[in-house]
Amino acid sequence: MKVCVVGSGGREHALADVLGRSAEVVVTPGNPGIPGSIDAPPEEVEADLFVIGPEVPLVDGLADRLRAAGRLVFGPGADGARLEGSKAWMKELVAAAGVPTARHGTFDAVEPAHAMLDTLTPPFVVKTDGLAAGKGVLVTESLSEARNAVGDYLSGASFGDAGRTLVIEEGLVGPELSVLAVCDGTDAVLLPPAQDFKRAGDHDAGPNTGGMGAYSPVPIVDGDVLATVMDRFIGPTLRELRARGIDYRGVLYAGLMFTADGPKLIEYNVRFGDPECQVVVPRLTSDLAQLLAEAAEGRIRSTPTVSDEAHVTVICASEGYPASPRTGDVIHGLEELEGLPGVQVYAAGVAVDPEGRLVTAGGRVLDVCGRGATLADARERAYDAVSRLSWPGMHHRTDIARAASVSTS
Ligand code: AMP
Ligand code: GLY
Repeated sequence: MKVCVVGSGGREHALADVLGRSAEVVVTPGNPGIPGSIDAPPEEVEADLFVIGPEVPLVDGLADRLRAAGRLVFGPGADGARLEGSKAWMKELVAAAGVPTARHGTFDAVEPAHAMLDTLTPPFVVKTDGLAAGKGVLVTESLSEARNAVGDYLSGASFGDAGRTLVIEEGLVGPELSVLAVCDGTDAVLLPPAQDFKRAGDHDAGPNTGGMGAYSPVPIVDGDVLATVMDRFIGPTLRELRARGIDYRGVLYAGLMFTADGPKLIEYNVRFGDPECQVVVPRLTSDLAQLLAEAAEGRIRSTPTVSDEAHVTVICASEGYPASPRTGDVIHGLEELEGLPGVQVYAAGVAVDPEGRLVTAGGRVLDVCGRGATLADARERAYDAVSRLSWPGMHHRTDIARAASVSTS
């Protein structure tokens, strides 16, 4: 089978790596750190299966265009991708499906939004309706910061058109979990859960990012939790989508929070999580290409199997990420990582400069992954590898999987 992966980040590198165990893989546009990268629009690539990584082309209808041309595609059409493209629509759909989620209001004017904030207790949560690369969510203890954000979002000052409609939610508290469901339009199978670290700094300080690290397995999760996720979240959502005529074939990523009142949905994404993909998909011991092709065809027949090994990924980011990442810094030390046992680097934001050197080209630059018998082993390998890398302004969190590896060692 020949598979075309669409995208250019660490998630796509991980997908290409694991799909490559059983299939021939090309990645468009990819990046200079991903083998098999080609410079061709997906519409012009010949492949047996297309796997679309990022949310923007999904929301823009790339899956629909490829399907209209007779291609086999793993990824929802624009109708299903609205789950991520419009938080207001997502909240309406999950309410209709009876999925537990935070109470919310949708607003396009300042006064009613302020009025709702004034009824809430901290933490206050303000979200753009539209896509903002994982950065459009403000969670703050400060009512005045939340009130100010309302004006900045609605005016377009903070996030352009993505924030001209906004969602305010009651603030939930508890550990978070990312569960990726592979869906065939009717049924789904769950991949092993992961935990993501969304804030830029250690101890969850600083602004939200696309994700600064992740690990899998997650010690707090057992089989009962996964059954609940299927019964109360993924299943009802797929049925509601179907009832609305939406044939959802792709990943449905549930971002959940375990509150004192039980698990609640924080968000749906319509793709593999980045960086969750980098720690979940490599754990598969069954054939990923086969599974995604079956889902794309509309009937999953195989059951994914996973290894017990632990995986940890640490994102090395460029100076200024997430606000204004600096690019063009020369990356040092990558060659030292070759051959280190249990270490894999996925390339996210990299380019080659005119002198042929690998340089930073985005906010999240390299995903350094460690694997081992325990989370503590995996974490040690990942951080040992990180310590050998450098470029001016490189930063990373030092606490990825720390608490979980202590609780299980
Ligand atoms: P989202 O992009 O919707 O997943 O939000 C990004 C992050 O903001 C989540 O992973 C949570 O850490 C936090 N968050 C979002 N919604 C809420 C909420 N209602 N209560 C508390 N934290 C939230
Ligand atoms: N890691 C969070 C996301 O992919 O949206």
